[in-house]
Amino acid sequence: MYRTATSLVSLVLGLALTGAALADPVEDQLTVETEDGSIDLVTTAPAPAYLDGALTTLHSGWLYRETDTRDMQRDDFDNPGMVFVDRGLDSWNKAQGVNGESCAGCHQGPETLAGLRAVTPRVDAKTGKLMTVENYIQSCVTERMGLEEWGWTGDKMKDMLALISLQSRGMAVNVAVDGPAASFWEAGKDIYYTRFGQLEMSCANCHEDKQGLFIRSDHLSQGQINGFPTYRLKDAGILSAQQRFVGCVRDTRAETFKPNSDEFKALELYVASRGNGLSVEGVSVRH
Ligand code: HEC
Ligand code: HEC
Repeated sequence: MYRTATSLVSLVLGLALTGAALADPVEDQLTVETEDGSIDLVTTAPAPAYLDGALTTLHSGWLYRETDTRDMQRDDFDNPGMVFVDRGLDSWNKAQGVNGESCAGCHQGPETLAGLRAVTPRVDAKTGKLMTVENYIQSCVTERMGLEEWGWTGDKMKDMLALISLQSRGMAVNVAVDGPAASFWEAGKDIYYTRFGQLEMSCANCHEDKQGLFIRSDHLSQGQINGFPTYRLKDAGILSAQQRFVGCVRDTRAETFKPNSDEFKALELYVASRGNGLSVEGVSVRH
């Protein structure tokens, strides 16, 4: 017999169907107290035209989390992710290149990279390659500082990712989907709607069709990445968007792509585009 997506969601989460319920995201305003005052973040926005038939309103994952978790993101003092931002700043200022280069030596303060997180992944005008923030970091680490590659999901990379992302906090996600980005965007969209694994489930089956399903503490969100990197309470650490994808694909009992694979980079672009108009939150807090 044909299994419905709902029963598969329950199966994958190891839960009986009884107890599953649909709930809207909460109505709440995210205002964050920072060292320099407070900023209002946009957590609900109209969907862009290219999402016609898929989504009408965009909601940040923040609106699906419980009060305690939401509260941790309202004040940088309570946000455990800020420790990693501080570590990123130490690394930024440190002379760690083979000839004593530091990020700061060439770029000055990290605020010079404000805006980058909001428009990445993007196609680099010079090389035609699809670039994530991590790709840019890595190219400076290896080509301009003469260092060995930093692990894609290692601490050094994620500390720096957290620092750079925070510089764009409050700016609207605005990745390009057309022009040179179009073919990458299409490839990412294909992956988003492809059914993976023994459970034969696509990203869309959960995050589009079953968004709002509330089972135990897992309130299924739209799977947005405007909050990434995020501090995940469960892992007590920073998680990048592609690390999150790995976890979700594994839940369908499928072999997953690797972080920085062409597939996950294209998927990151497509998922980011589903959040165009929401604020960059990184570093957010999730359970
Ligand atoms: C020797 C000088 C130098 C060092 C050291 C250096 N960078 Fe760069 N970085 C550059 C140059 C040059 C570019 C390219 C700028 C351009 O194309 O407009 C760049 C580009 C970038 C970009 C993309 C910026 C954008 O807006 O497109 C990021 C992110 C970045 N660097 C991060 C870092 C980090 C993090 C470090 C330290 C780990 C670092 N860089 C160290 C020179 C440097
Ligand atoms: C079997 C259901 C299921 C599938 C399939 C699935 N996810 Fe998820 N995903 C979840 C659950 C459950 C969570 C945690 C609750 C939430 O944030 O929605 C989650 C969380 C996320 C988040 C974090 C959102 C946030 O704001 O913290 C992202 C991003 C995400 N998923 C992306 C994806 C992508 C991309 C795919 C396809 C490769 C995918 N997911 C496939 C169930 C699924």
